[in-house]
Amino acid sequence: MSQKTAIWMDGKFSESADVPVLTHSLQYGSGVFEGIRAYSSKDGVSIFRLSDHIKRFLNSAKIYSMELGYGQKDLEEVVKSLVKRSGLASCYIRPFAFYNDHNIGLSTEGKKVSVFIAAVPFGAYFGAGKEKGISCKISSWHRINSMILPPEAKGSGNYANSVLASSEAKASGAEEAILMSGNGYVAEGPGENIFIVKDGKLLTPSKDADILLGITRDTIIKIAENSGIVVHERNIHREELYTCEEAFFCGTAAELTPIVRIDSRKVGNGRPGPITKMLSEKYSAVVTGNDAEFKGWLYYI
Ligand SMILES: Cc1ncc(COP(=O)(O)O)c(C=O)c1O
Repeated sequence: MSQKTAIWMDGKFSESADVPVLTHSLQYGSGVFEGIRAYSSKDGVSIFRLSDHIKRFLNSAKIYSMELGYGQKDLEEVVKSLVKRSGLASCYIRPFAFYNDHNIGLSTEGKKVSVFIAAVPFGAYFGAGKEKGISCKISSWHRINSMILPPEAKGSGNYANSVLASSEAKASGAEEAILMSGNGYVAEGPGENIFIVKDGKLLTPSKDADILLGITRDTIIKIAENSGIVVHERNIHREELYTCEEAFFCGTAAELTPIVRIDSRKVGNGRPGPITKMLSEKYSAVVTGNDAEFKGWLYYI
């Protein structure tokens, strides 16, 4: 079986797909998407929390008033077939819905909606940073909020905000950005949710901080509570990032990545802390089917 990128678009499987250059979603960022991972697990290739990702995909489309023409079960089946056809033992899966049209103009009325899903080989998002930790810079760009763009939707246009923040951080020598919410509290990374450890407890911003409600964030909360760690979802002040004992990002792409420096200050002793390491190990066990407690989150192909 091949190991190439596999694509399904509008009902057909292929290795590539063409899109007109004047496509509305390319011009105006009007697409919606998802990011899902498949892992090589104990009992075969499995897709992590597939149902929750497809649910969020459909909700993103609903928020942007896009009619996809496919339901929850249809898309779940396509993702499973695609991963199977790809021959990949582990991969990143990108469902994407967009206005596939070459008539210039902002209106979406009468424009065809296309859906594609791609399965691509993908390693650690932050490379060696996944183990040794990364440095972050608090962005001068604030996170979008519901008065401007819906943070809860994975709308491609939302990610212009993420790109600005991430590029700014990298240009300043840091590896990733941390964005503050419109009301001045810690929100999240450009493509990751954030947790800090304070007095042995796990803290993470709530929905009120304009975050994407990450599926990995929910996974970490459940794994932590199951391990007896107290978790609070509350506003986090900027200075708490400087004084916390540990910090980490989480997300489908980032998995669990320790943060060891923020704005040139060491987080804790400047190395990944014990709670971060423990949660990272548990997360790996969960996604690869090595934790009996959370096996219900694995969808075998
Ligand atoms: C802005 C943003 N926050 C958080 C996350 C983490 O979400 P999830 O864990 O569902 O991948 C992502 C990735 O999808 C993201 O793009």
